[in-house]
Amino acid sequence: MNYVANTLEHYWMPFTANRDFKENPRLIVKAEGMYYTTHRGDTVLDGSAGLFCVAAGHGRREIADAVARQFMELDYGPPFQFSHPAVFELSRRLSEILPDGMNHVFYANSGSEAVESALKIALAYQRARGQGTRQRLVGRERAYHGVNFGGLSVAGLVKNREAFGLGLPGAVHLRHTWLPEQRFSRGQPEAGAMLADDLQRFVDLHGADNIAACIVEPIAGSCGCQVPPKGYLERLREICDRHGILLIFDEVITGFGRTGNGFAPQSFGVTPDIMTMAKALTNGNVPMGAVAVRDAVYDTVIDAAPEGSIELFHGYTYSGCPVAVAAALATLDIYAKEDLFARAGAMSPYFLDAVFGLREFDVVTDIRGYGMLAAFDVAPDGGPGARGYEILKRLYEKGLLVKVTGDSILLSPPLIAEQSHIDEMADKLRAVIGSL
Ligand SMILES: Cc1ncc(COP(=O)(O)O)c(C=O)c1O
Repeated sequence: MNYVANTLEHYWMPFTANRDFKENPRLIVKAEGMYYTTHRGDTVLDGSAGLFCVAAGHGRREIADAVARQFMELDYGPPFQFSHPAVFELSRRLSEILPDGMNHVFYANSGSEAVESALKIALAYQRARGQGTRQRLVGRERAYHGVNFGGLSVAGLVKNREAFGLGLPGAVHLRHTWLPEQRFSRGQPEAGAMLADDLQRFVDLHGADNIAACIVEPIAGSCGCQVPPKGYLERLREICDRHGILLIFDEVITGFGRTGNGFAPQSFGVTPDIMTMAKALTNGNVPMGAVAVRDAVYDTVIDAAPEGSIELFHGYTYSGCPVAVAAALATLDIYAKEDLFARAGAMSPYFLDAVFGLREFDVVTDIRGYGMLAAFDVAPDGGPGARGYEILKRLYEKGLLVKVTGDSILLSPPLIAEQSHIDEMADKLRAVIGSL
């Protein structure tokens, strides 16, 4: 497909410095395996798996074929009161790789919608079990849970919140999990488990009977890879159990191998009641989000409704859309065939060695990493985020695409990365960071 962009003016780009971009655009015209090709014909290594989504690498023929076949067989069918076989099969396949006891899956079209669905399911569950006063939602500072109002309300990145009003009433926020003494911790930091006790403080302040759920990213991703301190997730789980609060893991980034296992519970040993997924669910190739719930959550909501009536008044025109389902099934096949989750675990030490090697540069003030996800911070220069943005542009010129949040540079290569790709990534990072 070859489109010529004669003008850049009419497209309002998301999360982008539109004016700056349009003066010197970064257009990607092709992708294959670990690499992009730019509109200038340059090759750029994908250091971020797109936006944490292209775990199996770009241009996977198996996914394209599955989508094309599905399109010609059944392009669309309404998901309310009707369905199609493939979405049941996808749900069964997911339940095979999800933590034990999470055997029910609800579908959305993005991570943001998965989060909205998870929060609504939590509220509906509490109401269904006769605990309808539990309406307060607990989020966390520095969290990213997408951009819709529910997710925004429990999230904690100021720039994403400040222009958009009050959000949901009653949302409260745990402190974030970063402490100065954690600097340059590789894997889970030693200090910080006690930060989970903020949840107990909310119970003491608001009353457990008013709290529906607590949502966290197992590893806070978008804010710059903040890995949970040892004991932190365990403590959250304990407090939730003690007080009838649902624990939600937002696994939109961490799901599907990023932590070196299928999902965070398999890496951290703590299982939530509800889990969101998106991104790598379809290798980022077709939009899709999903929510997995523990059997008790599903059973409670379903059983509370009268026989023959709709149990959950929630869903999307494209919930379980056949084409997205076909992409997801083909993606899961690739993950299984190429054992990509285990591969991520095996590659992680090499990847983390490369990223932590940046410590020698004075401008690098912290490095964090777990599995195949890492980030480093640079000392701000010229206002918050200015240096981070400059690094993003310079790296792109040099042939490496990364995600930047403020002055944190995030790295999450596709899980098919070879050591040679990690070396190339490190060389480019060192060249640019060394030139600052
Ligand atoms: C943890 C988390 N939740 C939700 C989202 C939102 O996903 P989407 O952009 O698909 O709406 C993201 C996106 O990065 C995310 O990282």
